[in-house]
Amino acid sequence: MNAARALALLLLAGTAPAASYAQSAPPAWQDSKLAPEARAAALVRAMTHAEKLKLVHGLFPPRAQPAPADMIPSAGYVPGIPRLGIPTLRESDASLGVANQVEQRKGDVATALPSGLATAATFDPELARAGGAMIGAEARAKTFNVLLAGGVNLTRDAWNGRNFEYLGEDPILAGTMAGAAIDGVQSNHIVSTIKHFILNAQETGRTVLNARIGDAALRESDLLAFEIAIKAGKPGSVMCAYNRIEGDYACESARMLTDVLRRDWGYTGWVMSDWGAVHSTVKAAMSGLDQESGQELDHAIYFAPETIDAAIQAGQITEARIDQMVTRILTGVIASGLYDHPTPTTAQPIDYAAHAQVAQRVAEAGMVLLRNQGDLLPLAKSAKKILLIGGHADVGVLSGGGSSQVRSVGGAPVEIPLTKGAAASFARVTWHASSPLQAIRAKAPQAQVTYVDGSDPAAAAAAARAADMVVLFATQWATEAQDVDSLALPDKQDALIAAVAKANPKTVVVLETGGPVLMPWLEQVPAVLQAWYPGQRGGEAIAGILFGDVNPSGHLPISFPRSADQLPRPKPVVPAGLDSNAASDAGAGDGSVLPSWDVTYSEGADVGYRWYAAKGTQPLFPFGYGLSYTRFGFSDARFTGGAAPSVTVTVRNQGVRAGAVVPQLYVAGPEGGAPRLAAWKRQWLKPGEAAQVTLTADRHALARWKNGGWVIPAGTYRLAVGQDSASATMAREVAVPGGAVRE
Ligand code: BGC
Repeated sequence: MNAARALALLLLAGTAPAASYAQSAPPAWQDSKLAPEARAAALVRAMTHAEKLKLVHGLFPPRAQPAPADMIPSAGYVPGIPRLGIPTLRESDASLGVANQVEQRKGDVATALPSGLATAATFDPELARAGGAMIGAEARAKTFNVLLAGGVNLTRDAWNGRNFEYLGEDPILAGTMAGAAIDGVQSNHIVSTIKHFILNAQETGRTVLNARIGDAALRESDLLAFEIAIKAGKPGSVMCAYNRIEGDYACESARMLTDVLRRDWGYTGWVMSDWGAVHSTVKAAMSGLDQESGQELDHAIYFAPETIDAAIQAGQITEARIDQMVTRILTGVIASGLYDHPTPTTAQPIDYAAHAQVAQRVAEAGMVLLRNQGDLLPLAKSAKKILLIGGHADVGVLSGGGSSQVRSVGGAPVEIPLTKGAAASFARVTWHASSPLQAIRAKAPQAQVTYVDGSDPAAAAAAARAADMVVLFATQWATEAQDVDSLALPDKQDALIAAVAKANPKTVVVLETGGPVLMPWLEQVPAVLQAWYPGQRGGEAIAGILFGDVNPSGHLPISFPRSADQLPRPKPVVPAGLDSNAASDAGAGDGSVLPSWDVTYSEGADVGYRWYAAKGTQPLFPFGYGLSYTRFGFSDARFTGGAAPSVTVTVRNQGVRAGAVVPQLYVAGPEGGAPRLAAWKRQWLKPGEAAQVTLTADRHALARWKNGGWVIPAGTYRLAVGQDSASATMAREVAVPGGAVRE
């Protein structure tokens, strides 16, 4: 910036010091040696009141009138302030790739990762980071600079429609993976959010649900996932959720937005609302909401300049609070690197081939082999007649619906519009163009590989009888804005699987589901592969695993129940007397008229596997579980107590194939309660190779929230190491001195 312009700026800001300014240093906000907060504060001092108010509310491009010339269809847009170098915020959903729901940008494709649960199942933060870095690179090249990624709500309910976007049921695993993914996104000098803060644990009635849970239970579960992810990933922004928490809307909860996020965690970025989640001006602003997103989806534009000014006039909002809101927005923008590295204004080329490899690596590492009786898998490449059934496996793999929907490279070979339900306006049942049929043919060129769609179970069974082996693709579609109404596979697929398995005992079931499904046919089916929504290279990844070119190594980040009645809430809780679909819609109405409806999370911090342990029940497949084509032995476990309890264990690949093992350490404290995952490591081992792995308990797994702070209770802890939460049987008790935990 030349000196004259700098002087003009300072004059405008009313802070010009003396006439000698021409020789002085550039303005403080350009000094990259200063802390982001200090630079942001300097910028705020240079802004006019009107400029500040421009930043605290954002447009929803599909509805914004008039539409700014450089706005493209996406989730959000906040005009910048060019004279100060403040970039226009161009927001895109990006949980699994740069989203393009219902193809709002015609022809704009992006690389689609597998679902979040697949990433979590890798237990490998480096893969989460690689996925985030890939998405961030594509977003930047597409001119987006604020990504609505980083969903880390815990899986409390197996039927939650958005489980596929999230990272499972354990706060330390989910928080660690989310932190790595956010860090990956932001390595591109753009902002990632983390969402949805907090307890948006179901989609049914998400705008009216009032989540109730004890303070300690929340700190040790959902909040812990956010705390870990925020500290590790330093997201520029936090998105507050639709629901209420203990009576207050999440975007109006001073307890969450101010006490927890700011006072306890020292968070310095900004809080943006979810789309249609704002219900007030004064309460929201004074509780800690810094920016209203997608304003056209709210009942009124609560953070519109004239509305805020009226509240200032009335003495209900202070100018200092406006400065704080803007400082926080700019801190996120500066700390992520966006201010110093503005995004391009026109689309840049993208290396989709390289990015597809990232999607494939995550899919391969995240698929979980659930069952493999008689070592049916891997399939012999010499098989002569292989029959594929169902799931549109001739053309592609299923994806999850809602704001995370990516229009993937290759397009959507199957796309089914919805005729009803809360997601109908913005979701279609969409397949990515990654054909398992083609990929399997490529692996077994000498075999006759055929496909039937499975719509006629008798015909499918007859075809199965004539085949050497069968791969049956079972699907369950899930979407934002709706929960799945049953954990059973839909569309009579259970009957199809039973008929086919009876006709041909060499049947492999590949599950493309949003989360756990019930498996009444399990005993009749020798092999089951959980492929999740496997993303844009899912077909190739499935084929690689089925034929043994890839050794499966994914581990469940969520427990699979035997039956729905094992769960704390067997099916979606529907608000009495309320149309659950309408209540799920974003912007369903004004806070003053929406009824509040309580859901009490009585399981508290005992989410997922801890719930089964607390109840003494056995799930169908436990958290942490996953088979391999090789076998791993654990020996010589040496447990150590003290302030940082740990185990060193020898893990050995006892088979003839290379593979990855994930030893997991679980701890149970002196005060009782279910064991908690405290550490894990993904370890690659060649055939016959052994490694010593040391797992040191994460202090978050030891600490309890008591009287407003974290304390590690002194006493005897049981440490257990193993290959999943249910079979961690190498165990010992150790003494831990305990004490308060300083953040
Ligand atoms: C979702 C958010 C999303 C936003 C913008 C909301 O309906 O809950 O996850 O980022 O829409 O698309």
